[in-house]
Amino acid sequence: MAVQISPSILSADFARLADEAKAVEGADWLHVDVMDNHFVPNLTLGVPVVESLSRATDTPLDCHLMIEDPDRWAPQYVEAGASSVTFHVEAAAAPVRLAREIRAKGARASMALKPGTPIEPYEDLLPELDMLLIMTVEPGFGGQAFLDIMLPKIRRTRELISKHGLELWLQVDGGVAESTIERCAEAGADVFVAGSAVYGKEDPAAAVAALRAKAEG
Ligand code: DX5
Ligand code: ZN
Repeated sequence: MAVQISPSILSADFARLADEAKAVEGADWLHVDVMDNHFVPNLTLGVPVVESLSRATDTPLDCHLMIEDPDRWAPQYVEAGASSVTFHVEAAAAPVRLAREIRAKGARASMALKPGTPIEPYEDLLPELDMLLIMTVEPGFGGQAFLDIMLPKIRRTRELISKHGLELWLQVDGGVAESTIERCAEAGADVFVAGSAVYGKEDPAAAVAALRAKAEG
């Protein structure tokens, strides 16, 4: 399991997104949080901004859709240039059909679970996905405290992935920082989203390197 770091631009300066993307060019991904004020009580950005951002950086975009009706909107994010698109299972009407559509359009298909959503009912869907995102805070805002109670779910999910012999990546998002990333890695996560722990620092690139070093152990 190679460690990958995906800095979240939610904690960046939205008026300087191109520069903020460049500030983390050593990162594997750029995590783009799309919020619609319905699925979560916050509003961020949409397809046009993703389109511009994909032209402004060579770092692949990891779009995390915290929106209602992802079945309708997710394919547009692939067309806008996202290399990975994550939809929430709580919002998707037909998650298998949606994952297949995202893949068919040429992006990695990923499904997210809120803290209160268990993995077990979705075991049979795992082969349809390239990544599973386990939220380690309630989605909606950056800078929240990491939920330690999610560690058993990360562990159980890693066991399911191994049991089925899948290549699936396991992403964690929310409160991931130098003080929590080792616990996530130890539990089986391999893709780490970090917003405030990267953009809240003086040197975001150095913060990415420090997180990577900790996760690699
Ligand atoms: C929260 C978003 C996260 C957010 C994480 O709903 O999905 O990606 O940016 O922020 P931190 O790393 O500050 O918890
Ligand atoms: Zn996110």
